[in-house]
Order: sequence, then C-alpha cells, then structure tokens
Amino acid sequence: MNARVEISSQTAVGEPLIACVELGHVYDSGRGRTTALGSISLTVDRGEFVCVLGPSGCGKTTLLNILAGFVVPAQGFVRVGGHAINGPSSERGVVFQDYSLFPWLTAQANVEFGLRMAGRAARERAKIAHDLLGLVGLPDAGAKYPFELSGGMKQRIAIARALAPRPSLLLMDEPFAALDAMTRSSLQAKLVEIHRQERPTILFVTHNIAEALVLASRLIVMSPNPGRIVEDIRIDLPRPRRRTAPRFNELYEHVARAIGLETAE
Ligand SMILES: Nc1ncnc2c1ncn2[C@@H]1O[C@H](COP(=O)(O)OP(=O)(O)O)[C@@H](O)[C@H]1O
Ligand SMILES: [Mg+2]
Repeated sequence: MNARVEISSQTAVGEPLIACVELGHVYDSGRGRTTALGSISLTVDRGEFVCVLGPSGCGKTTLLNILAGFVVPAQGFVRVGGHAINGPSSERGVVFQDYSLFPWLTAQANVEFGLRMAGRAARERAKIAHDLLGLVGLPDAGAKYPFELSGGMKQRIAIARALAPRPSLLLMDEPFAALDAMTRSSLQAKLVEIHRQERPTILFVTHNIAEALVLASRLIVMSPNPGRIVEDIRIDLPRPRRRTAPRFNELYEHVARAIGLETAE
C-alpha cells in the first residue's frame, strides 16, 4: 500500500478535508512587520468548490501558500486529510497565475511530471496525460513545447499537470487573471466541468466577483489589515450560471458591499 492510500484510509468519512485553526502569519522584512493573516479558522469539506475573494493584500496568497506547504504559518495549525502539512505534496495540486510550465518539456511531459516523480510506469503516465489533455480540451497539444502555446493553452496544461496525480485538493491562485476575457470565460466553464466530473476539492483565489459567482459553491470573502474572513456564503445559484439572473446580481451587490466596493445603484 502506498502512502497516498494510507492517508485516505486514515481520514474519517465526514471529516472536513481542510481544517485551519486560528491560523496566523506575519512577514518580517527589513521594512517592518506585516500581519498577512490575523487568526483564520476555516473548514472545507471534500468536493467543495470554494472561491476566496478579497482585495489585494488581504492574505489570499499567504493562505494558499500555507495550504500548498510553501509557507509555514507563524501561528495556529492546519490539517489536510487529517494530517499536518509538512511541505508540498502531490496530494495538493497547485496552479498559479504565472506558475509557468517547464519550458524544456513538451506539454505531455509537463502533465506527466508529477507522475514521473512518483515513479509511475511510462505507459500509465502516457494514458493519464492523454486523458487529461482531452479533459482540458487540448487533445492534440501533447508534443508542443510551452513556447508554442498561447497563455490560455499554457494554463490548461498547468491545470492538467496539477490534476495528473489525482490530488484531493486543487489550489489555484488567480490562475486566469492574466488571460483575455474570452479565454477566461472558456476556462471558467472548463473548470466547472472538471469539478463536476472529477469532484476535486478546489480552493480558487480571485479578486473578481463575477468569476467567483460563476465558479463557486461557497464564497469566502477576506479583508486586509490583518487578513481575515469577513463573510462565508453558500452560493446557491443553479448551473449553468447566468450573469444576467437577478439572484446573481443580488449576490454581486452583497459581495461588493462586503469588500467595501462602491457599486452602481
Ligand atoms: N514575502 C513577503 N514579505 C513581506 N510581506 C509580504 C510577503 N508576502 C506578502 N506580504 C504582505 O502580506 C500581506 C498579504 O499578502 P498576500 O498574501 O500576497 O495577499 P493577497 O494575495 O490577498 O494580495 C500584504 O500586505 C503583503 O504585502
Ligand atoms: Mg495574491
């Protein structure tokens, strides 16, 4: 039995996948101390699609980096799948805005990367990569190198790469922020479809309210100085989501007020 299977079998059914208890983080730099996260307590169940929304500087990236295992929190603790985090793991797939692909590897080799690290057989890796390239809508891009792909295509490959080891948690930090509006909305639809089919738990950071309302089953709104959670809202909009629906606009106004934005009356 490999470690991953053991981890899953030790996780009680019904236990939240993520549990953060009074999580706090302070950055100490030459220019002083910044309380990036005050004291955050949060649980996320398996299969939830959570968007974390808030203005720049409210600690969204810090929270994601703690969950990814890139940053060790100064206070409190976090458990994923019933275990403390000690460094990055293929159990937690990460996609960042500029989390670039390995430029010297083809798209397929990028997708296979985590599987290769885990010692999976070549044939099995190729099959998984082939299926995932299809899932992200790029069935013929396997032999291409990153420099031959558009920004949107690269992000799809990055999503496929993160999904390849079948992580129980997908951590995404403004992954579509640098893309044009059309590419962005097509990737949003793709991600909703992936979530429907594969049911990973997703924590998706954005500062775009409409994006959060298109994607999330639950919305966590954060505020800065110190970074904290100010709202935790279940998004009950039916899918596919329509930006013109009255309830969509109601939620939009509500969230905009929560983050202190003026909206047109
Ligand atoms: N490596 C760092 N060193 C010092 N301060 C940092 C560092 N990373 C983030 N911060 C500060 O911590 C706060 C939260 O940052 P961050 O988590 O990146 O927020 P967000 O992703 O919501 O914009 C900000 O005030 C930011 O300037
Ligand atoms: Mg950020």
